[in-house]
Amino acid sequence: MNLDLTNKRALVCGSTQGIGRAVALELAQLGAHITLVARNEEKLQEVISQLDGSQGQQHHYLAADFAQPDELQEQITNYIQQLDAVHILVNNTGGPAGGPITAAKPEEFLQAFNMHLINNHQLVQAVAPLMQQAGYGRIINIISTSVKQPLQGLGVSNTIRGAVAGWAKTMANELGPYGITVNNVLPGATRTARLESIIANKAQKNQTSTEAEEAEMMAEIPARRFATPEEVAAAAAFLATPAAAYINGINVPVDGGRTGCL
Ligand SMILES: NC(=O)c1ccc[n+]([C@@H]2O[C@H](COP(=O)([O-])OP(=O)(O)OC[C@H]3O[C@@H](n4cnc5c(N)ncnc54)[C@H](OP(=O)(O)O)[C@@H]3O)[C@@H](O)[C@H]2O)c1
Repeated sequence: MNLDLTNKRALVCGSTQGIGRAVALELAQLGAHITLVARNEEKLQEVISQLDGSQGQQHHYLAADFAQPDELQEQITNYIQQLDAVHILVNNTGGPAGGPITAAKPEEFLQAFNMHLINNHQLVQAVAPLMQQAGYGRIINIISTSVKQPLQGLGVSNTIRGAVAGWAKTMANELGPYGITVNNVLPGATRTARLESIIANKAQKNQTSTEAEEAEMMAEIPARRFATPEEVAAAAAFLATPAAAYINGINVPVDGGRTGCL
């Protein structure tokens, strides 16, 4: 099985912590040159220093804010002009705030749409010509199992994730003829800062403890535990490899079996 990413460049978004960071570490281990994208420059530098460079990889970072799609587009366009190639794009950023959909404000949907769909779209438009030229492209979107089954208390997120999945499938159809695949990784409950904050909010709202909330969540997962970021990253990294060339337009839940549908 060919898992070698030597001489491939990967843009990994939302990569200063959590799932994005774990994906960047894994892709570097497989030999890729990494470009990290996130806001916090100090953390970007820290993650750069942790990436495998044993094959002489050249790692870069770009400090950018996904809440500013126009600025991000300009930054990416300028950055890409300095590169010969981009082979892998991992679309990922912070998730929308929780809350019931009945209480969601219109601007929350618009903000989440920009953060999760418009940025993904602009990034793909920027890198797809280079992937096409190289005859190798892997676009991997980190979304959520809510693509398959809406999650309680995540109204805005459930709505926007569905839109991203529809966009991704359409992109997969259009880019497939050029050796470019577009796939989605759907994390279940994964031990990251985002999950910790969701659990803390639940405990506060329900006047329980974080331990009680965690136990309740884990009871619904056949694996009876949360994922590690590395377990989600392993699925994303596989989709980036030559071995995954014929996997296109799919959703891969990495959720310990939690999602109830087929
Ligand atoms: N963890 C879970 O259980 C879980 C489950 C299902 C789905 N997901 C989804 O998977 C994705 C990643 O989750 P995670 O748990 O790894 O999240 P996380 O720990 O909150 O990390 C989010 C990453 O995105 C970056 N980011 C956040 N806002 C940004 C912005 N405005 N512009 C640029 N970068 C930004 C952060 O870096 P900076 O702060 O440096 O910008 C960070 O590196 C999210 O969409 C999340 O909703 C997570």
